Amino acid sequence: MGWRQAGAILWGGMAPATRADSRFRLVESQARELAEKFGTPLYVIDERTFRDRIRRYREASLKANPKSQICYASKANSTLGLLKIAYEEGCWIDVASEGELRAALLAGVPAEKCVFHGNNKLRSEVAYGLEVGVGIFVIDNFEEIDRLKELKGDAVGPQCVLRLAPGVDPKTHEKIRVGQADTKFGFNITDGSALEAAKRCLASGLNLVGVHCHVGSQLIDPTAQRQGGEAIAEFAARLKTDLGFEISYINVGGGLGVKYVDADDPMTIEEYCPLVLDAVARILEGSGLDPIVAQEPGRALVGEAGVTLYEVGVIKTIEMADGARRTYVSVDGGVSDNPRPALYSAQYTVERVVKRDPAWEYVTDGPGAAFGAPLGDQVVTVSGRHCETDRLFADVSLPKDLAVGDLLQVLSTGAYNSSMASNYNRFPRPAVVLVQLDGAFKTLAERESWDDLFRRETV
Ligand SMILES: Cc1ncc(COP(=O)(O)O)c(C=O)c1O
Repeated sequence: MGWRQAGAILWGGMAPATRADSRFRLVESQARELAEKFGTPLYVIDERTFRDRIRRYREASLKANPKSQICYASKANSTLGLLKIAYEEGCWIDVASEGELRAALLAGVPAEKCVFHGNNKLRSEVAYGLEVGVGIFVIDNFEEIDRLKELKGDAVGPQCVLRLAPGVDPKTHEKIRVGQADTKFGFNITDGSALEAAKRCLASGLNLVGVHCHVGSQLIDPTAQRQGGEAIAEFAARLKTDLGFEISYINVGGGLGVKYVDADDPMTIEEYCPLVLDAVARILEGSGLDPIVAQEPGRALVGEAGVTLYEVGVIKTIEMADGARRTYVSVDGGVSDNPRPALYSAQYTVERVVKRDPAWEYVTDGPGAAFGAPLGDQVVTVSGRHCETDRLFADVSLPKDLAVGDLLQVLSTGAYNSSMASNYNRFPRPAVVLVQLDGAFKTLAERESWDDLFRRETV
């Protein structure tokens, strides 16, 4: 609610009603076919939704500022096929490790369109970035200034941008809150480190071009991004007055939230982009600075484009000491394919997309009971099959006639799911399938095989 009031002032009272639900969902026939062809659990990404969201982001940003640039934060989902699509749609690619940089290059993204992040880039990573010709290095700390200076030698070197901690405190889960002053990321503006870093870069002969901040992720209230943008724009103006240095690039990061559950009502892309870009423009007005203004969304581009498909394997109702009952619905994946509930208490929308095929039915509670008239919903705990107290999705509403063999889809799993997956309990990581524009399916990543799982090891 907080941001609506702020928004009402900023947009002259045009606070919208609850926004439309734009999350991609599989229809029953697609889900059946996908499960049959590729098995479950399965990550599914809709190409149309992904492309549309990138286009909307670019259009809304270019409309607000013709010098806008969109840089896809590949940590959200660095599946090669998706990096290729993001690049085709005009994005630069934000990489936060040598692995992500290599992924971008393998996907066909030129190194000069990559923005290299990291709060502790290894010497070897800096050297690799220089060797392949990364477009922009986001310098996070004083050691990196020295490392870059030493490794670039006499060459002009890449364009460099200072990552700044603008000292704003976004309202989001503490593990994805990074804009506050007490953070490992970037140079603090308030304690003078940022100004010192700029002086050292200039004195070191680094090709400093601008400033960057990213304040946090899954932000439903955009105040923090606006304030972060304003703070670094003010700092940029100060660089001009204090040091005579003019930036040509400013990057206000990502962070726009997506809809996970019905209660989430994030701003639309069209509302969000001008809000942040106009705020930056207002600060820069009269400064004589006219930089490229980049944004770095990840989740907002790919999150709602993805679903995860699971099959129900076990349904167990337990009676607790107080007589209350809880129904556990165990699916064939869990914390290894979606660690976010365990990490951030993240919530998701879970829907039954396919009822068990009657042909598979080997247990009935009475003739036709499982497939009779809808019986309404029940609140259940969807659990994974790992050795954890693994409430994968707590308190979700699913039909009362839910049965073993039904397929569930979990919405908005396009971001920070496949890219955060592990092999915990020796689970092979799921395949990633793209629903192409013509509706055909394309495998972007195969399910890990047993050979893949043990390839690195010897007895
Ligand atoms: C530097 C940086 N930029 C962009 C992002 C993308 O954030 P989001 O996916 O919330 O848009 C992140 C996420 O952690 C980040 O660390």
